[in-house]
Amino acid sequence: MVCLGNICRSPLAEGILQERAFKAGLNWSVESAGTNSYHTGDPPHHLSQKVARLNGIDICSQRARRFVAADFDNYDKIYALAGDVMDEIRRIAKNKFDASKVDLLMNELYPGRDMDVPDPWYGEEPGYHDVYKMIDRVCEKIIENATANRASTGNVEATQNLK
Ligand code: 4NP
Repeated sequence: MVCLGNICRSPLAEGILQERAFKAGLNWSVESAGTNSYHTGDPPHHLSQKVARLNGIDICSQRARRFVAADFDNYDKIYALAGDVMDEIRRIAKNKFDASKVDLLMNELYPGRDMDVPDPWYGEEPGYHDVYKMIDRVCEKIIENATANRASTGNVEATQNLK
């Protein structure tokens, strides 16, 4: 999960997807990063921590780090939370950039619309709640897709076992 600062949007995305994956029994390791290093080592923004906590998710132990090209080696899937973030990922990754691994997060919910998760950094608390809801809906969809795939794979295995 990648945004610009790794203190507002992507820490929420990390916390939400990790929690939903855990609850669905998926053994996923979800992490986040930012394309700039202004906040490296910082905890998530206090309003991101607050909205997460209000929704039962604790993100306070996360620390910001900068996205690096090697993330394309270390992760199966990379989500950019906005188009400007995607541009920066491309710039940082250079020849490691792998279009098959990276997508805009909101395209999982609205394929092809290339929607951004808006940056709440310059705004007030309601913006953080709006961002939480957007990210939560798309993470729900990611888990739905993953568990549907698991169910259909399970059916194939079950069918094979019957033969
Ligand atoms: P984020 O928000 O990308 O959602 O973490 C931002 C936080 C800080 C800055 C930009 C965006 N900044 O320029 O410091």
